[in-house]
Amino acid sequence: MKIIKVKDYNELSEAAAQFVLERVKQNPKLVLGLATGGTPEGMYKRLVDDHRTAGTSYKNVTTFNLDEYAGLKRTDESSYYAYMRHHLFDHIDVPEENIHLPNGEKEDLQAECSEYEQLIKEAGNIDLQVLGIGGNGHIGFNEPGTSFDSLTHVVTLEESTRKANARFFPSDAEVPTHALTMGIETIMRAKEIVMLISGESKAETAAQLFSGEANENFPASVLNNHPNTTVIIDEAALTKMKK
Ligand code: F6R
Repeated sequence: MKIIKVKDYNELSEAAAQFVLERVKQNPKLVLGLATGGTPEGMYKRLVDDHRTAGTSYKNVTTFNLDEYAGLKRTDESSYYAYMRHHLFDHIDVPEENIHLPNGEKEDLQAECSEYEQLIKEAGNIDLQVLGIGGNGHIGFNEPGTSFDSLTHVVTLEESTRKANARFFPSDAEVPTHALTMGIETIMRAKEIVMLISGESKAETAAQLFSGEANENFPASVLNNHPNTTVIIDEAALTKMKK
C-alpha cells in the first residue's frame, strides 16, 4: 500500500481529483469505479470544475459505482444514483449508457447482483476503483465478517452504518435496511485502487488499517493484499497512528 499524506480535506480532494484525472488522460476508455458518501464530494467538485475549465472528457469512460440502497427509487433524492447525478454525472460528458450502479428498485435483487457482476466482467474489470472507508472498516457496503471471496451481493446494513448515513435522509427511520454492493473479491479485481481517508472520526479506523494483516472482521484490511493500492489520507486521520 502506498500512502500519500496531505494536510487537510481540501488537499485530499485536490490530490484525489488529480489522481483520477491522470488516469483518465492516460486512458480515455478508463473503467472507473466510484464511491459515494461524504469523503469524495470534494473530489467530484474538482472533477466538475476541471471539466468546465480544462475540458477533460469522459465520453469514453465507463463507470461502475460500488453500491446502492435496496428499495429506494433512483429518483429518490437519497439514492446513490441521485447523489452521483448531483455531484458528478449531470456536470460532465459521460454518456448515460456508460454509467452503472446496482439497481435497488429491481424485484429480483439477487439476479440484479449477478448481472452487475457480469457487466463489470464484460467491461474487462475496473481499471481504477475509488474507495472511502466506514468507521467499522467497511468498503462498499461490505460489513465486518464479509467473506473476502464475496461477489456483488445483497447486504443487511449494520446499525452503525445506518446511523452514519442518516445525515443523507429526511429521517433516521427512512435509511434503508438493505443494500446491494460489489463484493470484496469484485473490488480486489480492480487493477488499481485509491482509498480516501479524511478527518479525526476516521483516525482509529486508519490506525487499524495500517496495523497489518488482512482479516475479514475488518474488511478494508484486505487492501494489504492488493498489489496496486494508494491511500490518500489527511493529518486529522493520521492522529491515532501507532508510532
Ligand atoms: C459509499 C461506500 C461507503 C463509504 C463509507 C464512508 O459508496 O461504499 O463504503 O465510502 O461509508 O463514507 P463517508 O465518506 O461518508 O465517511
